[in-house]
Amino acid sequence: MKTKILVIHGPNLHLLGFREKNVYGTKTLSEINAEIKKRAPAKGISLRIFQSNSEGEIIDLLTKHAPWCDCIVINPAAYTHYSYAIRDALAAFDKPVVEVHLSDVSKREAFRKISVIKDIRAGLFCGEGLRSYLKAIELCLKLKK
Ligand code: DQA
Repeated sequence: MKTKILVIHGPNLHLLGFREKNVYGTKTLSEINAEIKKRAPAKGISLRIFQSNSEGEIIDLLTKHAPWCDCIVINPAAYTHYSYAIRDALAAFDKPVVEVHLSDVSKREAFRKISVIKDIRAGLFCGEGLRSYLKAIELCLKLKK
């Protein structure tokens, strides 16, 4: 049986490759998604990947797709730091949640050190760009076993 992984990218991540390259690197979101997808067949993974700039839409995506998946990989972007609504939606489904950030949020502004999903996540990978996502996928595979 394949491991079903739901990947959600939050607000402004559609601007990767253009936005603050010194912080987030030069890879576009399409390139990051392509790298994630490339590894899927060999690892026996089935993926659904979405990006949204809207809190309500992220909740709708979770409502629709979380029941399907074994594990949720989410980069909530700025919502990480204050969206109790997304936190509650993630907590509603009995699925492991792996939090991802491209940048090292622990070494940036004070507001970025706060994660409102800290107590409900199964893991956190940050500060490694694309590798943060790849490590999150690996954790999903381990958690499924
Ligand atoms: C981010 C970090 C957040 O603080 C920021 O708001 C983002 C991206 C990251 O991937 O490093 O938009 O989640």
